[in-house]
Amino acid sequence: MSAEKTPTRRLRSQDWFDNPDHIDMTALYLERFMNYGVTPEELRSGKPIIGIAQSGSDLTPCNRVHVELVKRVRDGIRDAGGIPIEFPTHPMFENCKRPTAALDRNLAYLSLVEVLYGYPLDGVVLTTGCDKTTPSALMAASTVDIPAIVLSGGPMLDGWHEGDLAGSGTVIWRMRRKFAAGEIDREEFLQAALDSAPSVGHCNTMGTASTMNALAEALGMSLTGCGAIPAPYRERGQMAYRTGKRAVEIVWEDLKPSDILDRAAFLNAIRVNSAIGGSTNAQPHLAAMAKHAGVELHPDDWQVHGFDIPLLANVQPAGKYLGERYHRAGGTPAIMWELLQAGKLDGNCRTVTGKSMADNLEGREATDREVIFPFDEPLRDKAGFLVLKGNLFDFAIMKTSVISEAFRGRYLQEPGREGIFEGKAVVFDGSEDYHHRINDPALSIDEDTILVIRGAGPLGWPGSAEVVNMQPPDHLLKRGIMSLPTIGDGRQSGTADSPSILNASPESAAGGGLAWLRTGDIIRIDLNEGRCDMLVEPEEIERRRADGIPPVPADATPWQRIYRKSVTQLSDGAVLEGAADFRQIATKSPPR
Ligand code: FES
Ligand code: MG
Repeated sequence: MSAEKTPTRRLRSQDWFDNPDHIDMTALYLERFMNYGVTPEELRSGKPIIGIAQSGSDLTPCNRVHVELVKRVRDGIRDAGGIPIEFPTHPMFENCKRPTAALDRNLAYLSLVEVLYGYPLDGVVLTTGCDKTTPSALMAASTVDIPAIVLSGGPMLDGWHEGDLAGSGTVIWRMRRKFAAGEIDREEFLQAALDSAPSVGHCNTMGTASTMNALAEALGMSLTGCGAIPAPYRERGQMAYRTGKRAVEIVWEDLKPSDILDRAAFLNAIRVNSAIGGSTNAQPHLAAMAKHAGVELHPDDWQVHGFDIPLLANVQPAGKYLGERYHRAGGTPAIMWELLQAGKLDGNCRTVTGKSMADNLEGREATDREVIFPFDEPLRDKAGFLVLKGNLFDFAIMKTSVISEAFRGRYLQEPGREGIFEGKAVVFDGSEDYHHRINDPALSIDEDTILVIRGAGPLGWPGSAEVVNMQPPDHLLKRGIMSLPTIGDGRQSGTADSPSILNASPESAAGGGLAWLRTGDIIRIDLNEGRCDMLVEPEEIERRRADGIPPVPADATPWQRIYRKSVTQLSDGAVLEGAADFRQIATKSPPR
């Protein structure tokens, strides 16, 4: 496509800048944009105006590389004959926002919808990185449905601590166990964390950030190979340039999210998530993206389509390496290449490149078999999420790729009862209660205990907290017991290596079964049957209902109140009720 392309059709932005019937409005729109440095002739020439949704800021350091990277995006847009217009998105810094950045995902979504709908934009480059920045952007792109393309910021360089790879997040979960066991002091704990983050970029583990950027690619919404390029690499700048160029082309081609995001694309994403050992947060985020794309995605799809997929990426937390090695080994295209050869990927899916997924993946075989394993000789078989139900919840997932041999041996391999475990519940109401009481000897926590946390879901927290990966009390850690079975209605960090049962829906605060569980009850987990139940008589559960739902914190901000009034459960993506009724809203221009 040449830069001198003659407009082939009238663009959306011309409703603002080239409307002869409303010269007064056009004059108003034009005069203030002059402050930005474009000429009226240019704005009125019918060139595509490409928004750049800037997610990087000092408050979102994981995405801060985009502050520089957009220069290359602008070059690409300009060289393809478009006009770039950059604007900020709501900041979301996973590790810093309290009570949780999950509360902000829907807020960022709403805000981006208003921008994309209400301003003269013909297409948009969605800059992504830190966990929720990717799903919120794609949710909004679907609602508005103007041509959109994802530009990932890329992970940090690999972290090293005392000669070992130290991955962001994962190192914290590992070091906090060592700290509690008295093996390291505070200084070493902090140093390990600092060492895990050696450059700009998002988390270098296969946490939620790397997962969601890989899945954006699997969905067909970014250029091939975009997700895994480390943020400081020269290839990242080149990818930014190419993404900018392509953003203009997809406007002329009128290639919109609704042309790409169908059920087959989402099932591809579920399979890729298993193969990369992806984050459990992918479950609510994909559910939310599917909802806004108008795609039927059932909670059971995770098990039906994802569970049998083997683990191919040897990347922390499920494996050994970090983002740089993953990229050099071929990254997500190499994973998808394996799945495609094995007949586990729909290669016919359309993508933002304009080609099919199969075409994109041609020649993308892995180059480092220590990092990306062949489908037939995987790192681990059946590595997807198990979907569980029972009288404690209707839906929860368990990430099987992080079940350690020690854990499997202790809990899941009793001869004749493989995959079945019964234990005594110790119940915490929120994470403060957990931190306050976990080392209380009165709880008599031992290796047959199941730690349960409630009040951690979308309504309870609010927003849903990454707290289910509770660590055992210090006395067990000192004896070398590094994890206990855990269950909760919250989430856990994508960088965590705990095989928790999480995202339980409905949550306790919505009257789910966890609300009626009491410390001392026996819980039976049967992975073969996909069940998780409290062994309590129905009459007794009925009696306990009279106690009421365990209390949760009051609303602390206006948004928390609005959010709680309309948020759905994690099984459903924790979206805002009714928001998904609005789809493809850019087919009509907003009134003047
Ligand atoms: Fe932002 Fe991990 S905390 S990417
Ligand atoms: Mg997280």
